[in-house]
Amino acid sequence: MQIIRQLDPLRDVLDGFRKDLGRIGLVPTMGALHSGHMRLVEVAHDQCDAVVVSIFVNPAQFGAGEDLDSYPRPEAEDAALLEQAGVALLWAPTPDQVYPEGYATNVSVGAISDGLCGAARPGHFDGVATVVTKLFNQVRPDAAFFGEKDYQQLAIIRRLARDLDFTHDVIGVPTVRDSDGLALSSRNAYLTVQQRSQAVALPEALQEAAGAIADGEPVALVIEKAKAKLLASGFHKIDYLELRHAETLRILDKYDLPARLLVAAHIGRTRLIDNIPIS
Ligand code: PAF
Repeated sequence: MQIIRQLDPLRDVLDGFRKDLGRIGLVPTMGALHSGHMRLVEVAHDQCDAVVVSIFVNPAQFGAGEDLDSYPRPEAEDAALLEQAGVALLWAPTPDQVYPEGYATNVSVGAISDGLCGAARPGHFDGVATVVTKLFNQVRPDAAFFGEKDYQQLAIIRRLARDLDFTHDVIGVPTVRDSDGLALSSRNAYLTVQQRSQAVALPEALQEAAGAIADGEPVALVIEKAKAKLLASGFHKIDYLELRHAETLRILDKYDLPARLLVAAHIGRTRLIDNIPIS
C-alpha cells in the first residue's frame, strides 16, 4: 500500500490506477479505524478495482470545545489494518494540502444541514461538506463510501454530490454494531465500562420505538417513551430523538415511508448518535 501526503504524487498515482486497474473507490475517514470503517473498505472492494482510503482529522468540522486535540490519531495501526485489507493507497494529506495558505472557500448544503446534529454542532456540516468536496476533487473516485451511522452526513453528501454535479456514486453502507447492538464509533473508546453497558439502551430504545411506530402508535408518544427510557438508563441529555423522512430529512409528525428514526444523546462526557429505518 502506498502512503501519500502530497497532491502531486497523489494525482500521478491515481492516473496510473485509472489506466491500469479501473474503477476507484474512495473511503473518506478521520482515522482511528474500527470494524465499521473496515466494512466500508470491504464494500468498496466488492464494487471497485482499487480502494483508496483517506485519513484526515478535519479541523473545520470540530467546534470550539469539541475533541479536535484529543481525537485519536493511531496512524501506524490504521495503516497496518488498511494494508492487511488490501487497500491500494492511503491518502493522508498534510493540513496545507487541504487548507493551503489563504484558503477561503466554504461549502454549505442548506436546510438539510440544520436541525439534528446541525443544531447541536453549528458549522459542523459545513466543515464536513467542504472537506468531502475537496476529497472528491482530489481523488476523483468512481464511487465513495460512507457509513449510515452518520445518517445526516450521508444525506448531506448525497445532496451535495447531486447539487455540485459530481458524477460518481455515493454509497451508504449499513451500520456495523457490536454483538449487543451498540453502533461502532471511534468515540465509544471514551466510555467507561459502566457507561458502555448502559449505552446499549440507545439501540434498544430505537428498536422499540421503530417497532411501535410501524405498529401505528402515535409518533409523539412513542418518542416521549423512548426518551424516558434513555434518561432512566444513564443518558443525562438527549439532543434529539426524531422521526424524519429518510431522504430529505424533513421532520415527520406521522409515520410515512421512507422514514428514519434518529437519535443523539449524552452519556458521561460522550455524545453518541444512532439511527434506524422504519419498515
Ligand atoms: O465521517 C467521517 O469520518 C468524516 O466526517 C468525514 C466524512 C471523513 C469527513 O471528514
